[in-house]
Amino acid sequence: MEKDRKAEERDYLVNGKTYRVKVEDHWTLVYVLRDKLGLTGTKIACDNGACGACTVLIDGEPILSCMTLAAECEGRAIETIEGLSNGPRLHLIQQAWLEEHGAQCGFCSPGFIMTAKGLLEKTASPTKEEVREALSGNVCRCGNYDHIIASVLTAATKMRGEDTSLAPTSPGTGGTYKDEREDHG
Ligand code: FES
Ligand code: FES
Repeated sequence: MEKDRKAEERDYLVNGKTYRVKVEDHWTLVYVLRDKLGLTGTKIACDNGACGACTVLIDGEPILSCMTLAAECEGRAIETIEGLSNGPRLHLIQQAWLEEHGAQCGFCSPGFIMTAKGLLEKTASPTKEEVREALSGNVCRCGNYDHIIASVLTAATKMRGEDTSLAPTSPGTGGTYKDEREDHG
């Protein structure tokens, strides 16, 4: 026998905009974001809480949207990768990702970037160890971890208002190479 599926109209605040969506109780947040709101920047890989590809922020905290019921997120501030740039102007974290080659195939990048945003909004000058710890739930199948960590450290520098343009933190980004990651512990 077909189970009773309860669906209710709910209000979602995503990237500062309110959406009214008819949501069934068992739907996950990532399903609503991608399939109902068309915000496909948030990725699904494992779909069981093991990879971090689906990370978004809820009230500033990184959460796994494949493991979160949409019904529990009504009225909370949800941030996805689409909310970061201001038109063509990238967020400083995205800019750092470009400069430090944080993406290879790029599939994991939205999840890593949202996790990094959650960290950097609380900790302006994280150590390399703190960055590693914060990113420990995110998997990069390309194995691009060194560049991802460099991206987060560069993003932190940029968000503190310090100019990084003459001191790239990884080779191949122009200028004179200086490994500032070591300066961050
Ligand atoms: S898709 Fe959500 S943790 Fe992997
Ligand atoms: S850049 Fe390809 S999975 Fe991370």
